[in-house]
Amino acid sequence: MKKLMFLIPAFILAKSYTFCLSCHNGRKQVNLNNLKKSYIQKRLNELKKEKNTMGYIAKSLSTKDIKEILRIYGRD
Ligand code: HEC
Repeated sequence: MKKLMFLIPAFILAKSYTFCLSCHNGRKQVNLNNLKKSYIQKRLNELKKEKNTMGYIAKSLSTKDIKEILRIYGRD
C-alpha cells in the first residue's frame, strides 16, 4: 500500500491511465469497459469522499483527468 501511495500520483502526473487496469482487469475488480461512461463518472465523484484505496485515487483525479478516463474506458 505504501508503495502504491508513491506510484499512483506518478502515474496520474504522467497521464497514463493504464495503471487503472492493474486492478480493474475484470478479475480482481470490475472491468471498466463493462461499465457505462456515465456510471464511471458518477462513481469516481462519489468515491472521492471515501477513505479507501479507490477513494485516494479518485481524489487525485481532476475533472480533466476524469474526462480523459471517460474517453478511454467504459461504454456508451
Ligand atoms: C489499487 C487498485 C486500484 C486501482 C489502481 C484503481 N482502482 Fe478503481 N477500484 C478499486 C477498488 C478496490 C474499488 C472498489 C471500491 C469501493 O467499492 O469502495 C474500485 C472501484 C472503482 C469504480 C467503481 C466501480 C463500481 O462498480 O461502482 C470505478 C469507476 C473505478 N474504480 C475506476 C478506476 C479508474 C478510472 C482507475 C484509474 C484512474 C482506477 N479505478 C484504479 C481498486 C483500484
